[in-house]
Amino acid sequence: MSSLVRRLAIIGVLCFGAALAADNLEGLRGPTPLDQEPKAPRMAIVENFDVKRGRAYTSQPPTIPHAIDRYEITRNVNYCMYCHSRVRNEEFGAPMVSATHYMDRDQDFLAEISPRRYFCTQCHVVQTDAPLKVDNRFVDVYELIEREQQAADPPAPEAKEKKE
Ligand code: HEC
Ligand code: HEC
Repeated sequence: MSSLVRRLAIIGVLCFGAALAADNLEGLRGPTPLDQEPKAPRMAIVENFDVKRGRAYTSQPPTIPHAIDRYEITRNVNYCMYCHSRVRNEEFGAPMVSATHYMDRDQDFLAEISPRRYFCTQCHVVQTDAPLKVDNRFVDVYELIEREQQAADPPAPEAKEKKE
């Protein structure tokens, strides 16, 4: 019995701690209390500038530099492949989906888009003017390596000065 009391006491303390921590938290919905409806933010506008954005890491699916409102992807039709397929991309000046998109899971090439890559928007997103909700502290691995090399082998300005 006493062990049950002790356990309850521990749970109580944990809950109190969690409540304290929750006080400092501000979710994506902002400071509006949970029982009130916050004002919905303006919907982001999809940009349609035909300007490719750089990729943050090697295997990032590139963002879509054009609007896709009417490009249907259903069981019967994949409108994206109307322009991006191997046989038609030249006609539309669109980049061909990369070779990986024609591979099955055994790395064999198929004649048509692989079922694993059929639903394009599962990985590729349109570009919008949406502001960042939280600060992004992502650092490219390339920059990380540069920083490490600088730290391990800092340039020696004194030695250089002596030479001159
Ligand atoms: C009418 C032809 C057409 C259709 C349909 C189309 N695209 Fe494109 N897409 C292009 C062209 C042309 C480009 C080259 C950049 C530009 O002009 O916008 C492009 C660029 C892209 C890129 C950028 C690739 C890179 O290397 O940065 C992605 C990703 C992309 N499209 C995905 C899609 C997806 C997903 C769909 C379907 C929802 C789609 N596209 C439908 C013509 C098309
Ligand atoms: C499972 C995730 C996934 C799906 C689904 C997917 N892609 Fe990709 N796509 C990627 C990744 C990752 C890359 C970059 C690496 C690569 O080329 O494999 C890419 C690259 C591309 C590129 C750039 C090719 C180049 O050489 O610059 C285009 C265009 C593209 N995809 C279009 C499409 C279209 C159209 C579809 C739907 C038919 C599609 N993707 C489905 C993940 C995906």
